Amino acid sequence: MSPVSLTRVQKTYRLDAVDVPALRDISLEIAPARFSVIAGASGSGKTTLLNIIGGLDRADQGEVRVLGERVEQLNDDQLTDLRAQRMGFVFQNFNLLPVFSAYENVEYPMLRLGLAAAQRRARVEELLNAVGLSEFAQHRPGQLSGGQRQRVAIARALANQPELVLADEPTANLDSATGATIIALMRRLQRERGVSFVFSSHDQQLLAEADEIFHIRDGRIAPPVSQAASVAEARA
Ligand SMILES: Nc1ncnc2c1ncn2[C@@H]1O[C@H](COP(=O)(O)OP(=O)(O)O)[C@@H](O)[C@H]1O
Ligand SMILES: [Mg+2]
Repeated sequence: MSPVSLTRVQKTYRLDAVDVPALRDISLEIAPARFSVIAGASGSGKTTLLNIIGGLDRADQGEVRVLGERVEQLNDDQLTDLRAQRMGFVFQNFNLLPVFSAYENVEYPMLRLGLAAAQRRARVEELLNAVGLSEFAQHRPGQLSGGQRQRVAIARALANQPELVLADEPTANLDSATGATIIALMRRLQRERGVSFVFSSHDQQLLAEADEIFHIRDGRIAPPVSQAASVAEARA
């Protein structure tokens, strides 16, 4: 089953009585257990789209299906539960809690689900190890490099064993060598765990790794290349 499917989704922001259309008639279906990238220039609607998929924002119109749920039919509590139990988020600016250690940042989402202390510890240690940060468990975000912070954020996104991870420009604030390390890490975790990853990005490095790319421009998704190719073939 597709982890994310959108049908005719629209979103317009209202700013000082001016309408800013952010998403216009978006329909797309994401394949399971893949690396799917929503690619587009700044201002094209990527963050709006990911926020709607992740239930951080709501569409004005259209159908949003995420992990089998009709998101627009869920109330705020149900949406919060869906997010906390089945999704993970990685943000461009890492969004770690600055007074918490790396360990506590990764543990944090588990507290909400009421996991027992021993189980939390085992999982945090396993995740910090998976992202190569066992030695840095007690460091706060301010004592870590950008790449290390993003690795903490990835470990945190996986804390509750999500089926779907949404990552908004996860390599945008990293140099290209660190970006490559982060991409390889996410790829390994995706393969090992069968998690679906949906990214937004305009980073060529990340686009080169994608299984599937959706190009967004001015709030619209361009037809997939394969579809255009098949149309050309049909006409030939
Ligand atoms: N909270 C908001 N209020 C008003 N306009 C917004 C808001 N968020 C985004 N926009 C506008 O919506 C459009 C899409 O923005 P965004 O989804 O952030 O694009 P991207 O992530 O691709 O840079 C832009 O024109 C942006 O200015
Ligand atoms: Mg954005």
